[in-house]
Amino acid sequence: MNTSEQQAAPGADPARIAGVGSVGRHIAPDDAAGAPHPLDPLTAEEFRRVAAALGRDRGLDASWRFASIELAEPDKAALRAHLAGSLVRREAVAICWNRATGQAYRAVVSLADDTVVAWQELTGQQPNMTLDEWHECDEMLRNHPQLAAALARRGITDMRRVLTDVWAYGAALVPERYRGLRIGWSDVWYRASEDGNPYAHSVTGLHPVVDLGRMALLEIEDSLDDGTAADRPEVMGEYLPQLIPAPLREVKPLHISQPEGASFSLDGRLLSWQNWQMRLGFNYREGLLLHTVGFRDGQRLRPIAHRLSFAEMIVPYRDPTPDHYRRTAFDIGEWGLGFMTTSLERGCDCLGEITYLDAVLHDTAGEPRTIPNAICIHEEDHGVLWKHVDAASGTEVRRSRRLVVSFHVTVANYEYLVYWRFYQDGSIECEVQATGIMVTSYFPEGSQPPYGALVDQRTYAPFHQHFIVARLDLDIDGQVNTVYATQSQALPVDSANPYGLGLVVQDTPLRTESEGKQDYDWQVQRAWKVVNETARNGLGNPVGYKLVPTGCFPAMLDPSSPAFRRAEVVGHTLWVTPYRADERWPCGDFPNLSEHDSGLPRWTAQNRSIENADVVLWYVFGIHHITRPEDWPVMPVDSTSFWLKPVGFFDRNPALDVPPSPPH
Ligand code: NI
Repeated sequence: MNTSEQQAAPGADPARIAGVGSVGRHIAPDDAAGAPHPLDPLTAEEFRRVAAALGRDRGLDASWRFASIELAEPDKAALRAHLAGSLVRREAVAICWNRATGQAYRAVVSLADDTVVAWQELTGQQPNMTLDEWHECDEMLRNHPQLAAALARRGITDMRRVLTDVWAYGAALVPERYRGLRIGWSDVWYRASEDGNPYAHSVTGLHPVVDLGRMALLEIEDSLDDGTAADRPEVMGEYLPQLIPAPLREVKPLHISQPEGASFSLDGRLLSWQNWQMRLGFNYREGLLLHTVGFRDGQRLRPIAHRLSFAEMIVPYRDPTPDHYRRTAFDIGEWGLGFMTTSLERGCDCLGEITYLDAVLHDTAGEPRTIPNAICIHEEDHGVLWKHVDAASGTEVRRSRRLVVSFHVTVANYEYLVYWRFYQDGSIECEVQATGIMVTSYFPEGSQPPYGALVDQRTYAPFHQHFIVARLDLDIDGQVNTVYATQSQALPVDSANPYGLGLVVQDTPLRTESEGKQDYDWQVQRAWKVVNETARNGLGNPVGYKLVPTGCFPAMLDPSSPAFRRAEVVGHTLWVTPYRADERWPCGDFPNLSEHDSGLPRWTAQNRSIENADVVLWYVFGIHHITRPEDWPVMPVDSTSFWLKPVGFFDRNPALDVPPSPPH
């Protein structure tokens, strides 16, 4: 019996569906012992044990840094074995480097016996940037006499109001003399008052270049040296109530009340709500990830996704001037969404009956760090689910409710709010909201900014793009799936179609990774269906889910540009690969200081088969941010999203059983 039959078989024990966690009918040995589920993130104690094991066995001392420590997630075969009662080895992967030599290593530590089971030199790779370095760099620069002197030339003398903000580089843009260093470049910002917004006042034309390995200033690029004027226009870049010019408007309270509590339940990290079930993960890089997402359909818990997460984010600023040409952020590969996750507050970030989960990560010494209230779980009313008014039987209407699992990330000046939403009709929506403060620069009197929008007096916000790569490891009723491009075609007028009304749908299977490189096409309303050929619905057709491609846009980057060469993934809307446990990062394992994209383009060059395979979809969506004055000084959320919708997964509307409210 193959895996897909096993998973799709009607009446199969839901607890035995691969990867979908125990629901009480099957207790794996480690569950019984109160041990973590194999997919549970590392605990504070486990972070400490990893650091201690590497300190003891590999001599890691204070001259080393940890870039990341995470659970070595068991692959699908190991999870199946776990469900069958086998013990899964719990292991952690650590990326660390020796500050004295700059040499980086990848270590695997067994958490069964605290031994280092693998130790691999990473040649020519720079691990991700860390928050510790960001803070230490800011401290170093603000106390550096050379920066103080450069600021004094501009009339800035209060260093307590100065903020520096170090960015990572693309290798092609690093000066030859600094190649091979753990190098960063920085902006300089200035607060108009003690609690003023630092990002309100750019110190345009001033950029320290730093060696983060030695935590030393290498040089300061100063436009004053080139004779460029650097005066500061009067701007209003504040958003705190006490600092804005207008009084606050009047708003009456709005309360969300669920007097009987929420209708989801959380057992460890296994979340159940109505027909949905999933397991919540978290790591330094992807932040929240969703494992083993399934939908209970009668007696069956049917798999939909093995794992959903964001694998990379690429933000090229489309401004070639000296202040911005290096500004291409890889917020996931360079910094990590998990590391930048911020605590949420009830009543502010989330309304209603909220359950929070903390996240535990670590600093560069390997010490655990807890982010309280990192993940928010709650229900939302979402208007009407379905409705009909009939002259005889009257009005029938159902309220839609959705389960929302979310987390918020602050990347220095910018915020990303991530919402995974699960609907009663089997749809999944993934929405990202961008907010926070845009990067701005001043420009000289008498000119106009060509590469951005004017947002304040002689101040512009450069145009930029936020490309987000969602990694969607879908398992539609099992692991063996095929992706189809599905598009509409209007038929020509002929004898069978005399009025030119005929519209047909063409479904084309994507058989290889080359065919899996897909671009959005508005003319034919192209979308993609993930189909399980071996599982049929009650109408006799294979079951499927459709990736509804919203929020996508073309890269508009020359193939020779350094930004594109580091992130070829943005060149297509969709990529499809066969599942490999070690293929996780579309721009390569270490995009920090990268020159080429060593992820998706390299994997897919093998042109492997993706037909009737365990497919992984890489969907590129985001925000093409043509900046505007209304985004300043703090940006109202801009939203982008995509949907996964059942197409023939069910035999009919699966939400007929939603009760009326109030009850009839
Ligand atoms: Ni933006």
